[in-house]
Amino acid sequence: MARQISLIMVGAGDRGQLYADLAARDPRVRIAAVADPDERRRTTLAERHAVPSARRYSHWQDLIEQPRIGDAAVIATLDRLHHEPALALAAEGYHLLLEKPMAVTPDMCRSIVEAARAARVTLAVCHVLRYTPYSRVLRRLLDSGVIGQIVSVQHLEPVGWWHQAHSFVRGNWRRTDESTFMLMAKSVHDIDWLNHLVGRPARRVSSFGGLHHFRPEQRPSDAGERCLDCVLEPDCPYSAKRIYLGCLGNPAAERWPLQTVTSARTAEGVLDALRTGPYGRCVYRCDNDVVDHQVVNLEYEGGTTASFTMTAFTEFAFRQTKIFGTHGCLEGNGREVELLNFRTGKRERHLIEGSGDDPHAGGDSGLVRAFIEALTSGRPEDHLTSPEESLASHLLTWAAEQARLTSTVVHLS
Ligand SMILES: NC(=O)c1ccc[n+]([C@@H]2O[C@H](COP(=O)([O-])OP(=O)(O)OC[C@H]3O[C@@H](n4cnc5c(N)ncnc54)[C@H](O)[C@@H]3O)[C@@H](O)[C@H]2O)c1
Repeated sequence: MARQISLIMVGAGDRGQLYADLAARDPRVRIAAVADPDERRRTTLAERHAVPSARRYSHWQDLIEQPRIGDAAVIATLDRLHHEPALALAAEGYHLLLEKPMAVTPDMCRSIVEAARAARVTLAVCHVLRYTPYSRVLRRLLDSGVIGQIVSVQHLEPVGWWHQAHSFVRGNWRRTDESTFMLMAKSVHDIDWLNHLVGRPARRVSSFGGLHHFRPEQRPSDAGERCLDCVLEPDCPYSAKRIYLGCLGNPAAERWPLQTVTSARTAEGVLDALRTGPYGRCVYRCDNDVVDHQVVNLEYEGGTTASFTMTAFTEFAFRQTKIFGTHGCLEGNGREVELLNFRTGKRERHLIEGSGDDPHAGGDSGLVRAFIEALTSGRPEDHLTSPEESLASHLLTWAAEQARLTSTVVHLS
């Protein structure tokens, strides 16, 4: 019989619940324990996965005071709470599925990679974009050589106007000092994905961007403190009332973004949360500081270039990418890839199938499956991005941010 895997969940929030649900679809997996100070979240996850009451903890530290009770730990706490549990759990011999960003300084990230290496445990960072069926199709096309050598790449991350307001103006990732900077919080995935596609180390990076819109100077003079007492609310694109009442009745939207705001599923319950909670604040009167638009230019070894744009001012959509090669070019949007072959002058369309029902078009479930296969086979290199590659993507993201903050071109060693 295939090897059984028991997982411990550190953080039972949005991502923790999702990973537990996805992992438990595999009959070889058992959720052995959960740690989260939030009793409602802890109990929800524990009850859904039959975690015994003695294995429900308020803090990850309570959990590691016990002798090892599982094979692997999923670390899905907020950004500033990754480093400490990652070091401690690796030292206890747990394999790690670690949410991005790995940690909030380069040295912390390096120390996590070193700790995993020293303890000989598998470390996978949740760069979910690499694990989508879409990425596999792109990788296969690039590896086939049909477009020749990649010369340049153009990549757009359309964050979406309401998603920016939810997560990066009103929500958990609005302030660099409480989480991390925008490029790390949101686009380390994209930098990692570009590295994956190009397949060579980056050599130079420049970047520009800033916080253009979600600031007090942009506030219309009649705007209220909160959407519920604002006369301009009906015409405001960032109306919390419209964004969150609109989630009711849609199971995917009730899970995210509504679950972050409230567990209520009635209009009155949602309005109550907006009346007093952070998600009802006017977007021009928040304490946010992360950027709402940023461009990054990259030069890779061998001269390949990539330009990346992250912007709030779009629909909420999948990333859009154009890859220009010496013998063809292609364009992808997560649902399909269109390829122009320069040899024949013909276009081919590749529709993406099997993206599943998770929030990252099959990336979340693909990652969890790969992690389980890595553990059961004992061959992580066949299934997962290496810790060193994830570290390189994080370091490149810091270099890009340094380039933006110092108006310089940063050279990577
Ligand atoms: N890979 C991706 O695509 C992706 C997408 C979204 C978020 N993330 C990352 O996932 C992480 C979690 O995000 P989220 O949206 O699930 O946040 P969340 O706030 O919903 O969940 C975090 C949970 O950690 C719990 N927690 C706090 N202190 C703890 C402790 N000492 N021990 C155990 N648990 C503790 C909180 O109570 C909370 O329930 C973040 O780092 C975020 O940046 C990754």
